[in-house]
Amino acid sequence: MIVLGIETSCDETAAAVVVDGCHTMASVVSSQIDVHHPYGGVVPELASRKHIEAIVPVVNQAIHDAGIPLKRIDAIAVTRGPGLVGSLLVGFSYAKAVAFALDIPWTGVDHLEGHIHAVFLEPDPPPFPFIALLASGGHTCLYHVESYTVMRTLGQTLDDAAGEAFDKVAKMLGLGYPGGAVIEKTARSGNPRKIIFPRAYLDKSQYDFSFSGIKTAVKRYIQTHPEEYLRQIPDIAAGFQESVVEVLSYKVIRAAQERGCSHLALVGGVAANRRLREKVTSDAALQEILVHIPDPALCGDNAAMIAAAGYHRLIRGDFSKMADDVYSRSPAQSTTIS
Ligand code: KG4
Ligand code: ZN
Repeated sequence: MIVLGIETSCDETAAAVVVDGCHTMASVVSSQIDVHHPYGGVVPELASRKHIEAIVPVVNQAIHDAGIPLKRIDAIAVTRGPGLVGSLLVGFSYAKAVAFALDIPWTGVDHLEGHIHAVFLEPDPPPFPFIALLASGGHTCLYHVESYTVMRTLGQTLDDAAGEAFDKVAKMLGLGYPGGAVIEKTARSGNPRKIIFPRAYLDKSQYDFSFSGIKTAVKRYIQTHPEEYLRQIPDIAAGFQESVVEVLSYKVIRAAQERGCSHLALVGGVAANRRLREKVTSDAALQEILVHIPDPALCGDNAAMIAAAGYHRLIRGDFSKMADDVYSRSPAQSTTIS
């Protein structure tokens, strides 16, 4: 089955063509970073307008790159939520229109479920069941993944998402937006043990996260060292990154051990972070747990992951209806994505 995937939940307009939920024929991502950069974060109204401009050329590019005519598409998968409603509506309405015009089935996909499906686009996906840590700009969740469509939430952030903390700390340090990649780059010349920020393990037996305390600790350090901090930016970036990475690594490995899973996956934009990839891989190896991390291009928002997740719904006949609407917050966030 050839599925056209469409993703417009935040600030990336993306389209992809994926065969049988695992083989990517084309994947196009048009980023709006330049548009939002001057504001230090995503401006929802601007994001919607840019999606409207980009959606047709991005889908056409994906079809062109796949080297097939549009009529060869068997079905469409589109992000339904969570995300910015105005942005989601652009992709969702467009998908409805194309599905209606081609008279083919279509399905709305949960963005978080999509992120997990990024691992199935790689050559050596984890066997079920496995633990997945989704760390992105909007979410930080741990899942017990039982099948392509059943992912039970074990824990999630109680406040900021991990990527959000990276973005906010980068802003405080004057490093720009988005913050994840720039903090990682700045941290390379810093010493992670010079300035130690708190690790928020919460109750160590639980799988929930909290990143607002680390963010506040960085803010307090800047306020109490108003001149000194300017010379210490790499050490602050490295200390902050280490604190977030240690907590994420500890919790995902603990979840795998306690649930008896010998495989775990890291997904979402933060999974592009090299220090996180290294630390989880080396710590998990000590426990004989295998780590699966998609290529960095598949960690951030893309439409191939949406097409992959959609495929498993489409083959079960789980089609969406023209009356269906998008959602800004996922009802699945605290329960089961199934
Ligand atoms: O998955 P994603 O592209 O979009 C959401 O669904 O949110 O994730 C974006 C987030 C941003 O907060 C960004 O700062 C973070 O992922 N990020 C990183 C890195 N690259 C992107 N965080 C840490 N290190 C990175 N290298
Ligand atoms: Zn995302």
